[in-house]
Amino acid sequence: MVEIETERLLLRGWRDGDLEPYARICAEPEVMLYMGRGAMGRGQTAESVGRYVRHWEKYGYGLWAVEDRTSGAFIGRIGLMRHDDWPEGAHKTEVGWLLDRSFWGRGFATEGALASIRHGFEELKLGRIISIAIPGNQASLRVMEKAGLTHRGQARWKGLDVVWYAIDRENKQTGS
Ligand SMILES: CC(C)(COP(=O)(O)OP(=O)(O)OC[C@H]1O[C@@H](n2cnc3c(N)ncnc32)[C@H](O)[C@@H]1OP(=O)(O)O)[C@@H](O)C(=O)NCCC(=O)NCCS
Repeated sequence: MVEIETERLLLRGWRDGDLEPYARICAEPEVMLYMGRGAMGRGQTAESVGRYVRHWEKYGYGLWAVEDRTSGAFIGRIGLMRHDDWPEGAHKTEVGWLLDRSFWGRGFATEGALASIRHGFEELKLGRIISIAIPGNQASLRVMEKAGLTHRGQARWKGLDVVWYAIDRENKQTGS
């Protein structure tokens, strides 16, 4: 599996030991407020990690486990996820992020998003990368903007009203 080091983060493969801290993060109502189904129990979180790992096996890319390079702590997930059921066009790979509350507000999501997008365009040769959020999720929408995505519209997806943003490879300057 591809690993990516950014200035402050290590984007790496999932390890057994990640489940405990990830389950703690996903049990926080504040973290899960805009994720569509609220705080998750350990079993649901384990199912999610199983989906991430199967996605990597199927597509050769996916959501990375994120480590804070300074402390070596597991702090969440960032990366690319293909949604076969996305209704708005042929480009169905999303860049997404979810981090431990105590690491918010330091630019980490944006740093990981930029690395994910670069990987998606330069290595995977994706034509467009989308990102999807519930409209009230201002922090996430801001990360999209800071990572260079622009607003493309609203949609109904998985029973939710969402907004979606995108960035196209042809408009992206390599190395930026
Ligand atoms: C979304 C999330 C990953 C952002 O992580 P982060 O590392 O704090 O993001 P960054 O520091 O890179 O950027 C956050 C930006 O949002 C802004 N922001 C945060 N809360 C905000 C709010 N309530 N209203 C407006 N802007 C807000 C920050 O000020 C910052 O912008 P700035 O750099 O211009 O000041 C984090 O909040 C999270 O894990 N949320 C829960 C999971 C989630 O909702 N994931 C996304 C699902 S679509």
